[in-house]
Amino acid sequence: MSAPATGTNVDMQVTLGPLKLKNPVMTASGTFGYGTEYRELYDPAILGGVFLKALTMAPRPGNKPWRIYETPSGMLNSIGLQNVGIEEFFEKKEPFCRELAGKGTAMCANLAAQTVEEFQQLVERLETTDCIAAYELNVSCPNVKKGGCQFGTDPTLLRELVAAVRPGTKRPLIVKLAPQVTDVAEMARISVDAGADIISLINTFPAMAIDAEKRRPILATVTGGLSGPAIKPIALRMVYAVRQAVDVPIIGMGGIMNWKDAAEFLLAGASAVAVGTANFVHPTTPVEVLEGLQDYCRRHRYARVSDLTGALELP
Ligand SMILES: Cc1cc2nc3c(=O)[nH]c(=O)nc-3n(C[C@H](O)[C@H](O)[C@H](O)COP(=O)(O)O)c2cc1C
Repeated sequence: MSAPATGTNVDMQVTLGPLKLKNPVMTASGTFGYGTEYRELYDPAILGGVFLKALTMAPRPGNKPWRIYETPSGMLNSIGLQNVGIEEFFEKKEPFCRELAGKGTAMCANLAAQTVEEFQQLVERLETTDCIAAYELNVSCPNVKKGGCQFGTDPTLLRELVAAVRPGTKRPLIVKLAPQVTDVAEMARISVDAGADIISLINTFPAMAIDAEKRRPILATVTGGLSGPAIKPIALRMVYAVRQAVDVPIIGMGGIMNWKDAAEFLLAGASAVAVGTANFVHPTTPVEVLEGLQDYCRRHRYARVSDLTGALELP
């Protein structure tokens, strides 16, 4: 237990193994573009970190509409990893990443690929810039060589992928777990055994919506990924389970809409949090989360926000 916090000086820095963040508030991949889009609303340099939109080797146009649908307390998306591709990232997006990195915000690349080799190529290419602080492997992608099963739901594929990417970089390696598994703690253990430094979770849940009048699915891809408040209790339970299973730091996400939600993730065992869907609803949510966490620490006399991690008092 740290000394009681006095005045306004709460230490907001967090250390996630090899990744140091000036504060624990990040933005989740795919909900914050490359950071540039939100500049008019607030200075993204206040963030501890940004998970960039997924990058693939070639540009991807994404899926056809409808590909976003609002559900009661959540959002369904089937964007389909739309992104500019790695070369255009270097031409057009990297300068802003460099600017933010220069101000101490950890710019984390989210990597998506359908083969182990493509993941390796992405890392190899990104090693040529010094503005990337860490790699987050989006393991919710189907492996085309292994018949389309997802890296993140097949323990053998997951181990193979993480072990293959690990030697390609000394930067922190984050594995972002898929929630649709029987035992998420086991997937975390496998990732850490194979070389992951940090676990982030959760990604969206496979889900669908139907228009009964038309007797048709709403999304053009029939199914999509569910995010937002609807998934928060499940995400909390998974963060809590992973915290018991592995010794590496956790970045928690899934339905964080305000500082209270963020505090819950920290108490459950996360060392940092990422705001996702909330960026579409109230784009200044990350600012409010940061201020709210600071205030919470003051009120509860925590000198360091890092003291909240896993501080849940069990009945
Ligand atoms: C529109 C949209 C696009 C997303 N794109 C990605 C992506 O490219 N890569 C990834 O790993 N996760 C992606 N995600 C998942 C989020 O990063 C996050 O894990 C998930 O939405 C849960 O957090 P939330 O409930 O706060 O949104 C996306 C989510 C949404 C809503």
